Amino acid sequence: MRAILCKTLGGPDGLTIEEIAPDLPGDGEVAVAIKAVGLNFFDTLIIQGKYQVKPELPFSPGGEIAGVVTKLGRNVTHLKAGDRVMGYVGHGGAREEAVVKARGLSLIPEGLSDEIAAGLSITYGTTLHALKDRAHVKAGETLAILGAAGGVGQAAIEIGKIMGAKVIACASSDDKLDFCSRLGADEGVNYDRQNLKDALRALSQDGVDVVYDPVGGDLTELAVRALSWNGRHLVIGFAQGEIPKLPLNLVLLKSANIQGVFWGAHTEREPERHRANMDQLLAWASEGKLAPHVHRRYRFEEIADALGALARREVKGKAILVP
Ligand SMILES: NC(=O)c1ccc[n+]([C@@H]2O[C@H](COP(=O)([O-])OP(=O)(O)OC[C@H]3O[C@@H](n4cnc5c(N)ncnc54)[C@H](OP(=O)(O)O)[C@@H]3O)[C@@H](O)[C@H]2O)c1
Repeated sequence: MRAILCKTLGGPDGLTIEEIAPDLPGDGEVAVAIKAVGLNFFDTLIIQGKYQVKPELPFSPGGEIAGVVTKLGRNVTHLKAGDRVMGYVGHGGAREEAVVKARGLSLIPEGLSDEIAAGLSITYGTTLHALKDRAHVKAGETLAILGAAGGVGQAAIEIGKIMGAKVIACASSDDKLDFCSRLGADEGVNYDRQNLKDALRALSQDGVDVVYDPVGGDLTELAVRALSWNGRHLVIGFAQGEIPKLPLNLVLLKSANIQGVFWGAHTEREPERHRANMDQLLAWASEGKLAPHVHRRYRFEEIADALGALARREVKGKAILVP
């Protein structure tokens, strides 16, 4: 079978595609014939050794998958060969057949495509956990989303609207803001040409209730300065590359909360809540309440283009890899 392999740490051009022997599933594992892989910003980091998880070389990137169960290891009771499944696998998805832990997989409801299912775990899972379990977003609250046209950003627009929030999409271009408005965002801020704090203040009566921040850098302090009394700032990631530092008097003066979100650890530490969240996302997707935009389908041979587009901030919604 063919696998995309990272054999030496570096940029996406160093990835190779090779024929390798398939692995056999061990205790609690299944083999899955991969139909689609969701790519994420962290795939651009993990192949360079710059992500918090550093797999042993060689490894395949690809942290979320959809496919069909082909073989079962011991002690797998909730799946059988032929089941269509999706889920978070951390890394290792970018191969024609992957061996993964069975307990992280969910059945794909009938009618939901592999490409949509493959992109639902990480970005949508992170966002539902952040908005529901961490920030407790309530209907009528104002939610500002940074990097709103990206993977987690599009999920935050869609889930924020389902939760009844007034959504302010914030992004670096008007083209991206048009995309966000088509996804359902109520307002837009172009932070390349507007001051983020002033623009958010102008769009919210007493400041924004919740900030969803996957970008970091200089934007974080400006967004915290736009928070309302009792506002919550969700720390999702640092796509801009710089981990910001904050004057804590801002947090004191607003009675604000800075809330860390570590979805990968949450799936391990709170597996029942994670499973309930995945069930909710799959139900919303099959009812048509979530309609994740697929930026482009990339073939295995195009992995460097896909990861390059993520690194260059070109991807709107999800980049999906297909064998
Ligand atoms: N905490 C968690 O559990 C968790 C889970 C999933 C993802 N994350 C993190 O969330 C972040 C976003 O992930 P994603 O998959 O949504 O990424 P993505 O699709 O690439 O979107 C990231 C967005 O960040 C903005 N950005 C600003 N500076 C950038 C730069 N130098 N390079 C790339 N993007 C830049 C871009 O929007 P503009 O051009 O509009 O600025 C881009 O659309 C990553 O840091 C990822 O590690 C965290």
